[in-house]
Amino acid sequence: MRETVSILISEEAIRERVAELGATISADYAGESFIMVCVLKGAVVFMTDLARKLQGNVLFDFIGSSSYGDGTTSSGKVRITKDVDLDVEGKHVLLVEDILDTGHTLSFLRQHFLQKGVASLKTCVLLDKPDRRVVLSEKADYVGFNIPDQFVIGYGLDYAQRYRNLPYIGLLNISED
Ligand code: IMP
Ligand code: MG
Repeated sequence: MRETVSILISEEAIRERVAELGATISADYAGESFIMVCVLKGAVVFMTDLARKLQGNVLFDFIGSSSYGDGTTSSGKVRITKDVDLDVEGKHVLLVEDILDTGHTLSFLRQHFLQKGVASLKTCVLLDKPDRRVVLSEKADYVGFNIPDQFVIGYGLDYAQRYRNLPYIGLLNISED
């Protein structure tokens, strides 16, 4: 088995788009304080870059989730493996995720935060694969890039826990030789 990676979205393109998202989000919150919740582990790289482009009183928290899936596709059964530490009741929460695929994860997490009584919940995803949506109502408030239905790695995203450290977003090709 040989794995090769080709660049889909360059470091430079990511940097420019993250700066734009930061400016838009900062303007939308207009000085209101909020809690950025990073969905572990895939959103870590995106979250820390985005955070440095945000103005105002921004707190950090982290949540872990896993879905019982069959390999690369997530099933509808999502569970929380690590919950947030901060009390989010009555607070504005911005959920930061690496990729919106079937929509099961974001849909589950949305309910989770609404049950905690947040003042508002917005979602920001680096990547969106609209063609893959199963939960058709699920969409993000902020999207970095729309991408076609192809498996991507890098800039936080993994294949079997590897490639998260790549500075760009790549397409993974696995060949038999
Ligand atoms: P959803 O619940 O199907 O929307 O899945 C979202 C999760 O699936 C993401 O947080 C990723 O962990 C994973 N995922 C979906 N597509 C990809 C991909 O192309 N590369 C790496 N991980 C992916
Ligand atoms: Mg993930």
